[in-house]
Amino acid sequence: MHRLTPHVPIATAPPATPKRLHVITWGCQMNVYDSARMTDVLRPLGYAPATDAASADMVILNTCHIRDRATEKLFSELGRLRRIKDARAAEGATTIIAVAGCVAQAEGREILARAPFVDIVLGPQTYHRLPEMVARAARAAKGEGNVGVIDTDFPVEQKFDFLPAATGPQLPGGVAAFLTVQEGCDKFCSFCVVPYTRGAEASRPAASVLDEARRLVEGGVREITLLGQNVNAYHGVGPDGSTWSLARLLTALAAIPCLRRLRYTTSHPRDMGPDLIAAHGDLPALMPFLHLPVQSGSDRMLAAMNRGHDRAEYLALVARLRAARPDLALSSDFIVGHPGESEADFEETLSLIREVRFAQAFSFKYSARPGTPAAGAEGQVPEAVKDARLARLQALIRAQQDEFNAASVGAVMPVLFTGRGRKPGQLSGRSPYLQAVHAIAPDGLIGSEATVTIEAMLTNSLTATLLRERACA
Ligand code: SAH
Ligand code: SF4
Ligand code: F3S
Repeated sequence: MHRLTPHVPIATAPPATPKRLHVITWGCQMNVYDSARMTDVLRPLGYAPATDAASADMVILNTCHIRDRATEKLFSELGRLRRIKDARAAEGATTIIAVAGCVAQAEGREILARAPFVDIVLGPQTYHRLPEMVARAARAAKGEGNVGVIDTDFPVEQKFDFLPAATGPQLPGGVAAFLTVQEGCDKFCSFCVVPYTRGAEASRPAASVLDEARRLVEGGVREITLLGQNVNAYHGVGPDGSTWSLARLLTALAAIPCLRRLRYTTSHPRDMGPDLIAAHGDLPALMPFLHLPVQSGSDRMLAAMNRGHDRAEYLALVARLRAARPDLALSSDFIVGHPGESEADFEETLSLIREVRFAQAFSFKYSARPGTPAAGAEGQVPEAVKDARLARLQALIRAQQDEFNAASVGAVMPVLFTGRGRKPGQLSGRSPYLQAVHAIAPDGLIGSEATVTIEAMLTNSLTATLLRERACA
């Protein structure tokens, strides 16, 4: 692939004058990661984070287009930002408003037409060009050039080759970080906008992932979640020039000292190769908790959704994963009311849930997305039917989740402490299964792993007693 020079090289960015940046993030973890990268790329221009829009010289709305009302939500937030921009203008201050993310990619021109006070519209693949866009927007604000910068290209250069590497956790004080390794999707599920908003599948070179992971760990991070719309389709170029799979990448990451926990999300059942299944048995750092969306338990619906596998294949995959890692827990995503879904299809989904037993799951009513094949398909399911199915599915999932948490009581497990708990002397942390755990422990353990015994289950968390610290090595 070609490497193009970024339009404004980061190293030669204009001298910094103090300014404030406020980023509002909607959508998936990849947007959370991207928001942090946009903050980093603007830092050399003098932008420091602001906690609210009212005091910011620049506001970025990082948007999501996955389900309903994404556009209305955006325009209502833009209405609020416009009032802030006008009020600041009356005091002689300029406010740059940028719309980023998947709604920007899908509806860029409409955004500029309906909200001409928006200065920049940029798609997810162009964040490395943000410094140049800001410079153009600033010139336009002074009346020197066109208003409304729009960049929704899918450039040949990869944005991560030009964005500064992440050096710390995305949340202040956090010890867990996200790291995007793969973007885009070629699978074209019938219902989904992602292939259109994020573009074709692409993987970051392994060396750049390893470098960023090492920096994160030096910055205190102990848990890294690798991100990608299809993270297990990862096929990045390795330092030796060969193509690395996700399993190979995880194996290399697991060797980084003090990196105690690895996760990856979101994986697709079709890309769950034998080496990745084996990695779950071979790598102690790879947490025994896997998000493996299935969407439906009905073969008819899986075919209509273009998922590329059937129910039996999913169940066989779960069995292979559990054989490799017997304490593996699973979570999933479900869609109810995809066009054509009958009561019998929905019952198949409930039966799959009963068969697999999930520790957790996200479930959604099907939402017609403009431009996707399912939006125009026959057999659209009435809203009331979707509501009823969603309620039944969520009740089943809730019961399985409670059962899973209740089964943790009495278990001895590692907890990564992330901060202070609500009660004095208490720390809060996360189990390997992402359960919230509270235990009486000294502040010095924040950022470390310790072994605990789970004592009790509360509504949304577990309480535990500390057994021993697990030194980082
Ligand atoms: N790449 C992941 C999913 C990304 S989107 C995968 O293939 O599983 C996250 C979840 O949003 C999906 O798993 C799906 O359950 C849900 N989703 C996506 N499009 C949707 C739509 N049009 N209506 C309702 N839910 C949707
Ligand atoms: Fe969307 Fe399907 Fe791609 Fe997941 S695999 S991002 S659901 S098109
Ligand atoms: Fe939303 Fe785009 Fe992520 S549509 S879920 S922000 S990939």
